[in-house]
Amino acid sequence: MTNDASELDRKNREMWRRAAAGWGKWQAPLREATSPVSRWMVDAIDPKPGQRVLELAAGPGETGFLAAPRIGPHGTLISSDQSPEMVSVARARAQELGLENVEFEVLDGQRIELESASVDAVLCRWGFMLMGDAGAALRETHRVLGPAGRLALATWDAPEKNLWARAPAAQLIARDALPVPDPDAPGMFSMADPAALADRLGEAGFEQIETERLGFSQSYASFEQYWEATCDLAAPIAQALGTLDAGAAAEVREGARSVLDRFTTPDGGLEIPASAVVAAGRIPAEGT
Ligand SMILES: C[S@@+](CC[C@H](N)C(=O)[O-])C[C@H]1O[C@@H](n2cnc3c(N)ncnc32)[C@H](O)[C@@H]1O
Repeated sequence: MTNDASELDRKNREMWRRAAAGWGKWQAPLREATSPVSRWMVDAIDPKPGQRVLELAAGPGETGFLAAPRIGPHGTLISSDQSPEMVSVARARAQELGLENVEFEVLDGQRIELESASVDAVLCRWGFMLMGDAGAALRETHRVLGPAGRLALATWDAPEKNLWARAPAAQLIARDALPVPDPDAPGMFSMADPAALADRLGEAGFEQIETERLGFSQSYASFEQYWEATCDLAAPIAQALGTLDAGAAAEVREGARSVLDRFTTPDGGLEIPASAVVAAGRIPAEGT
């Protein structure tokens, strides 16, 4: 790994460590709004009783927790994230749910410290595109999956279909607080093209690849609530805002408000569309 990549990983870890409390705070509405994506992913891996399922970059762990009842008491979900603070949020949620078939691990998706062919399925929602070396993470995922293993993942669709993030990000880019997105660098929108994503899965050795765009919406009681949630959850946006003085940060907020105004509901709330790209792939069964 180059110095640049390990520096990016270090910054990434620090940024998500700081965001962990916010992910705990907004866990319930986030779970609700994003459940179509999690359900698609869990159906794609089709977990069976007794299987071992690994969730990478699990954050608060919600997608894996949907799979946990399907693998039953003799199955194991390994809920993992690079950030110990995120793993703590997931652990608390599993306790709340009374799940007893979950193990928790601090794991970097690019160097998965698990035996080869040791899990039946891998889930990774909105994780791979953030990693310094997504290709390495996909190859590692392939390595830990056994024959007939399945992978399901989600990335974000193009920025114009995700104005909840694009609106503040464009303001921050205009003020040099965020870099102009480099399509080849890791980032929220770096795996937005379904065809290119399918190619990457194929390069990592997956077969029977399917991809789909999946729309959903996020509801807020007011613009103020949207802003609070975005600052708590969208770690790169929060970090960039922190580099601005109060006046410039307020301009970013008002710029985002003017773009998102079109999604105002009759009761003064906001209903903002979002779009994910979901993908699934398999490893051939032995002897095929
Ligand atoms: C956008 S959040 C998504 C959390 C969760 N998967 C969800 O959909 O609710 C991104 C997560 O990826 C994790 N992450 C980023 N880079 C990682 C890496 N190299 N290995 C493991 N986790 C990573 C972060 O710590 C963070 O929890």
